[in-house]
Amino acid sequence: MSTQRHFRVWRGDDEGGELTDFTVEVNEGEVVLDVIHRLQATQAPDLAVRWNCKAGKCGSCSAEINGRPRLLCMTRMNLFGDDETITVTPVRTFPVIRDLVTDVSYNYDKARAMPAFAPPSDLEPGEYRMQQVDVERSQEFRKCIECFLCQNTCHVVRDHEENKPDFSGPRMFIRAAELDMHPLDERDDRKELAQAEQGLGYCNITKCCTEVCPEHIKITDNAIIPMKERVVDRKYDPVTWLGRKIFRR
Ligand code: SF4
Ligand code: F3S
Ligand code: FES
Repeated sequence: MSTQRHFRVWRGDDEGGELTDFTVEVNEGEVVLDVIHRLQATQAPDLAVRWNCKAGKCGSCSAEINGRPRLLCMTRMNLFGDDETITVTPVRTFPVIRDLVTDVSYNYDKARAMPAFAPPSDLEPGEYRMQQVDVERSQEFRKCIECFLCQNTCHVVRDHEENKPDFSGPRMFIRAAELDMHPLDERDDRKELAQAEQGLGYCNITKCCTEVCPEHIKITDNAIIPMKERVVDRKYDPVTWLGRKIFRR
């Protein structure tokens, strides 16, 4: 069964824009991305939208739907009431290129700044066998599809451009936590780096990042809070402090 639905879609570029109204056909079982594609096919051929897999796995189609950060391809139309207007806007934290497409290079800059995995240099291929328990500990973080919805949602940068240089964001904190848990990573200062150079201290555990993660990664509880706790332990525990002084760790 098909119905006519009311959509408002933000159209514009880095110089400004506005919400444009559309009435568009919607069929049973469709997701918001299907409707955006129908708009492109029938009414707005130049409407810019980024997408790739249409399966919730490439992380390209992030946008805000009725103000909530979501993947366009994983948001079913039956989530909304029949008479509800559906407003689709680009993610707010990153600069608009055109329509629903934003420049997410902030995230890649932060990823490049992250010190890479550092295994022992003399380890030969096949020489070390990962224990299942070590695989499982970081498995959750490896589900990340890099949609950057968590980065977009975090209030530290959402309306505070000035914090971006000092704050790497929740996606980078789960990467730091993952590397910190890796038995072969020789850097023992991942938590301190997160605190000193990636802005872990800016996070006040609001958990908004966790709420919007389409992979349901427990970003705050399983990555951020344990790293914060261990930074505090290392800093204030007198035995740890003395050990670090003696062994210069
Ligand atoms: Fe997206 Fe979740 Fe990865 Fe953040 S942690 S980039 S919300 S999948
Ligand atoms: Fe931001 Fe998530 Fe912390 S939303 S403040 S990184 S808990
Ligand atoms: Fe790939 Fe939506 S198109 S996650």
